[in-house]
Amino acid sequence: MSKTVLSTQSLRLRWINCQCFELALPNGVHILTDPCYDYQGDPGVKISSLFKTGGFATPDLEGCDYVILNHTHADHMVNLEEVAGRFRPTVICHTGVAAEVAAVTPGLPLTSVYPVDYNGRYYFDGFTMDTYHGSHKPQPATWARSMERADFISQKDSLKRLHTLGGFFNMNYLLTLENGFRVAFVGGLDDGAKEWLRAARPNVAFRNKLLNDMDVESVARDWLGFMGESHAQIVVPMHFEVWENQEPGFSERTFRRANQLAEEKGLPVRMLSPESGRWYSFEIGVSCWGEGLAENSCAR
Ligand SMILES: [Fe+2]
Repeated sequence: MSKTVLSTQSLRLRWINCQCFELALPNGVHILTDPCYDYQGDPGVKISSLFKTGGFATPDLEGCDYVILNHTHADHMVNLEEVAGRFRPTVICHTGVAAEVAAVTPGLPLTSVYPVDYNGRYYFDGFTMDTYHGSHKPQPATWARSMERADFISQKDSLKRLHTLGGFFNMNYLLTLENGFRVAFVGGLDDGAKEWLRAARPNVAFRNKLLNDMDVESVARDWLGFMGESHAQIVVPMHFEVWENQEPGFSERTFRRANQLAEEKGLPVRMLSPESGRWYSFEIGVSCWGEGLAENSCAR
């Protein structure tokens, strides 16, 4: 018999779609990463059917004080304009895309764009951000080819340039909250991440889908590799919605198998299989156990 006698909340979060998370910090600040969950352009592609988002929309966000962009492909920022219009957040992005982000986001004051560089440390309300170089997985498009036509998600000519820049500006980061809780965000290839993760020792690491295979065992073993290299306690996968489109249940089975493998190896890390839109709370708790625990017997 065990009993939790004390707990304090470190962070609440929910994964929405692609690399989009809403983070609720203990001080009330909300951070949104890579806003992409719904878009109905004209002619447009409805992302909710493409990525099975369950109809999540901007008014469903609890708040947004900061937006952080990993890169500017449409599936990482297509809802930015809407979010900026509703919440007036500070938009944190790499210097290389900052001017273009401002140019295509009507109503966003210039001083609400916060350009950052690689290998920097930046201080915000309730958190510190360390930035690291990221690399996009290889794509065949050249600059000229990418600029020829709009991306297939937004189909907006105005986002062509940002979509193109998204191929080479990719920024990973570590957020350290005031309570010391550390969140790592790795949205591209490894690109040295295992080196800074070893030093950072994050509590939670967000990682995008590693492989396109549809084989539970090989994909689970690949995740196991990242789990070890993350030096995190919890790994939260992201951008794996494509698996669900191809084979519903694949991701759940894969993450469960990765956890079995981690347990067999004695690794002190587990994967969360996040349900889109559901809030999760990360806490530090104190439990006591033993026979004959009376009410409040552990509380002192
Ligand atoms: Fe991308």
